[in-house]
Amino acid sequence: MDKKKEHWEDVYEKKTDHQVSWYQDVPETSLRLINELQLSLESSIIDIGGGNSNFTIELQKIGYKNLSVLDISGLALMRTKKKMGDASKAVHWMESDVLDLIELNQYDVIHDRATFHFLTHEDDIKKYVDVVSDAMIKGGHLVISTFSLTGPEKCSNLQVSQYSSSTLSLLFKENFVLTRSFNEIHTSPYNTTQDFVFCVFTRL
Ligand SMILES: C[S@@+](CC[C@H](N)C(=O)[O-])C[C@H]1O[C@@H](n2cnc3c(N)ncnc32)[C@H](O)[C@@H]1O
Repeated sequence: MDKKKEHWEDVYEKKTDHQVSWYQDVPETSLRLINELQLSLESSIIDIGGGNSNFTIELQKIGYKNLSVLDISGLALMRTKKKMGDASKAVHWMESDVLDLIELNQYDVIHDRATFHFLTHEDDIKKYVDVVSDAMIKGGHLVISTFSLTGPEKCSNLQVSQYSSSTLSLLFKENFVLTRSFNEIHTSPYNTTQDFVFCVFTRL
């Protein structure tokens, strides 16, 4: 098993939802941003590094029908499927490194909260930008949130990259235009805080 995958399987084997800093009972900001996009319920939405997030569960409750979750950890996906119960059969689950995703013009929305920032090598960051650009339908939306410049330097014992809306815009500028951004403080289940930046980009 590769080291990255081994790390994340170990996290989800040992820790419950309330023992991981990123957990949110309801991912309200992401859901608000999706709502603001005024999408059809048929829109194709993927959560990259969805992990143990309730994002897709909440989207399904709203009525979205074309949902995918990708994560490097099979245990994380299993946990989320279990929380979803029978309804999980209607979701497309992908156990994969995001950098191995090869899809063209598939998604109206790509959502990523707290996954992209684990890429710290320039080549991997470039690859992610290419993968997301290819997988997105033109006119589609990238809803991405990472640690901000005042956010943590490490998470889950791994080094992370920190961003501002300007540095994210620079990375995605070839194929995306920034339509919305703001910073937000996340409070973990055990009451520590983490500074995030949220950006919404539209695919050109
Ligand atoms: C900090 S958690 C965030 C989980 C979720 N997005 C949320 O907001 O609650 C990061 C997630 O990204 C996944 N992950 C990390 N690196 C990845 C990669 N290269 N490809 C796919 N998933 C990855 C991890 O397994 C983990 O579930």
